[in-house]
Amino acid sequence: MKKCALENKITRWTVCSDSGKHWTLYCGNAKHAMSDIETDSVNCIVTSPPYYCLRDYKVDGQIGLEETVNEYISSLCSVMDEAYRVLRKDGLLFLNLGDTYYSGKGKSHGTDPKSSKRRFGLRPVDKSGGLEIGIQRKSVIGVPWRVAIEMMSKKWILRTPIIWHRESALPESVKDRPRRSYEYVFMFAKDRKYYFNRQPLLEKKIDEDVWTILARPKANGGIETAPYPDELVERCLEVGCPDMGVVLDPFVGSGTTMRVALQTGRNAIGIDISPVFCEYILKGLEEQKCICL
Ligand SMILES: C[S@@+](CC[C@H](N)C(=O)[O-])C[C@H]1O[C@@H](n2cnc3c(N)ncnc32)[C@H](O)[C@@H]1O
Repeated sequence: MKKCALENKITRWTVCSDSGKHWTLYCGNAKHAMSDIETDSVNCIVTSPPYYCLRDYKVDGQIGLEETVNEYISSLCSVMDEAYRVLRKDGLLFLNLGDTYYSGKGKSHGTDPKSSKRRFGLRPVDKSGGLEIGIQRKSVIGVPWRVAIEMMSKKWILRTPIIWHRESALPESVKDRPRRSYEYVFMFAKDRKYYFNRQPLLEKKIDEDVWTILARPKANGGIETAPYPDELVERCLEVGCPDMGVVLDPFVGSGTTMRVALQTGRNAIGIDISPVFCEYILKGLEEQKCICL
């Protein structure tokens, strides 16, 4: 394993294992770290960026806590610009994004029993004033579509908004609207022609653009990244990444995308800004014998 310090406080670990599989992990800001990745070199990107105003990962430079939705969209899309550059012409991007409600009700006095990371003072979505997009209190913001529309205006081709029906999701405690049970996984292409394998969808018949897959697993090993289930990544790779292809996740969290990519015979590149999460990933890769020292 090679460890290397790059510019902008980025650390990079690279491994070429005996089996010929490669992986690279960058600890640092996704936009900066991606400048180290070659243009047109990645077959498939599978990622779940921080949702707007949902968690505080407690690292400077994190995305998700911007004062306005438009600033959030702009930070996220600047990472997606780099994703566009590094993706091969025949590559695909699967972008999982959830929505946030605009509460506008002022500071929360309660605690969230589910996670201490979810309540962090007066969040922009709790402030009055319509969040600078003129919406009313209690309205869902429509974050995933706002991001998708901005990306489409920057050359991305939105081929399918896939619905991830989150089976057995913990029910929200709301009484005046239906509880949410799905999130989007947007399938974006860079070019009109790209690699796509329909076979797994034909075999599973019912699963076309509504994927019923278990909800998020519990946080692992004491780290709270809001991981997505392995099966979601497996499905994206089955249809959207050739065998032995290169898979990138610029917000890799606990390392789910890297782990699944390597387990399914692909090469993996992961980036995360949190040194704690990066350490966790390295430990996991070591346990899976993906590190040959
Ligand atoms: C929703 S989590 C990803 C969870 C991941 N899919 C998993 O299965 O564990 C989003 C991640 O983005 C990271 N992050 C936030 N801002 C970042 C940035 N500017 N550059 C790189 N990573 C960032 C956070 O540390 C967090 O781990």
